[in-house]
Amino acid sequence: MPKIFVTRKIPEAGIKKLIDAKYDIDVNPEDKVLSKDELIAFLKKGNYDGVLCLLTDKIDKDVFEAAGSQCKIFANMAVGFDNVDVSAAKEKGIMITNTPGVLTDTVAEHTFALLLAIAHRISEGERFARAGKYHGWEPMMLLGTDVSKKTLGIIGLGRIGSRVAHHAAKGFEMKVLYYDVKRNEEFEKESGAVFCPTVDEVLKNADFVSVHVPLMPATKHLINAESFKAMKKTAYLINTSRGPIVDEKALAEALKSKTIKGAAIDVFENEPAIEPGLINLENIIMTPHLASATEETRNKMAELVAENIIASLSGQKPPNLLA
Ligand code: DGY
Repeated sequence: MPKIFVTRKIPEAGIKKLIDAKYDIDVNPEDKVLSKDELIAFLKKGNYDGVLCLLTDKIDKDVFEAAGSQCKIFANMAVGFDNVDVSAAKEKGIMITNTPGVLTDTVAEHTFALLLAIAHRISEGERFARAGKYHGWEPMMLLGTDVSKKTLGIIGLGRIGSRVAHHAAKGFEMKVLYYDVKRNEEFEKESGAVFCPTVDEVLKNADFVSVHVPLMPATKHLINAESFKAMKKTAYLINTSRGPIVDEKALAEALKSKTIKGAAIDVFENEPAIEPGLINLENIIMTPHLASATEETRNKMAELVAENIIASLSGQKPPNLLA
C-alpha cells in the first residue's frame, strides 16, 4: 500500500480519493505550517512514496533528500509552484505537479471583486458605516471611480489573466491592454484586447493594472517604484498572483504619496507578514491570500492533487506534471 504524507489538513474530497485508491495516508496532526525541520523529521520517519504539499511549504534539495529514494512525487496543491525547487527535483528524479485550471474562474472572480471594491471604496464605506459615521446621504461622500468602459491593463495573459480580461471586456465593456511574453492574437480577436510590447506601455495607459505572472527571478519586483511613477495618478493596482512580484515598500510609498490612487492585493511579499506601511492606509484593500478560497474550488484542487499522486504512483503520467 503506497504511503502518502499530507503536510496539512486539506478538504476531505482529496483525502477520500487517496483512501479510495487504497493509499495509506498520514496527515500532519496539527493544522499549521510545518517548519522545514519538522517536515524533514516527518519524512525521514515515514518512508513515504509521495508527498502532498502546499504553497506554504518550502520544498528544496534537503527535503527531497529527507524523503528518500522511494519517494516518487511531491504534488503541490496550488497552481503556483515557486515554493518548490523544480530543478533539484529533476536531478533527484522526483516528479512535481501542480493544480492549474480548476481555480481559474475563482481567482478571476476574486480579482474582479477586489477591482470593484477598491474602485467603489467598499471596504472604506463599510468601515465608515460600522464606526457609526453615517449620518445621511451626502453628495460628496466617499466618491469612487467608475469601472465600466475604462482601460484594464493585464500583465501576464495566462489562464487567469485572460479570464479577468474576458470579464472586463464582455462584462464591463472595458478596453483591455495586455503584456505577455507571448502575444495571443486569437484572444485579441475574441476579446478586442490590445497587445503591448512592454510592461511600461500597459502601466502608462491603464486605469486598472492587474498582475497575473508567475513568481520567478525575472518577475521579482516587476512592479516597483519606477512602475508606480509610470502609472496614471488616477490608476489602481490589483495583485492576486504572488506578493514578491510587487515591491511592497514601494507600493506603500506610492499609496501614501498618492503617486497612484489605490491598490487591492491578495498576496504579500513576505507572507504572512504585511508591510507595516500598508496597514493604516485607506486607499488599499487587502485580503489574506483568499483568491482561490471557495469550497467548490478548494475541493477541486484537493481532488486534482490526489489524481496527480494516484497517476504518478500507478506508472502513468500525472495530468499536471511539471518535472
Ligand atoms: C495558487 O494556487 O497558486 C493560489 O495562490 C492558491 O490560492
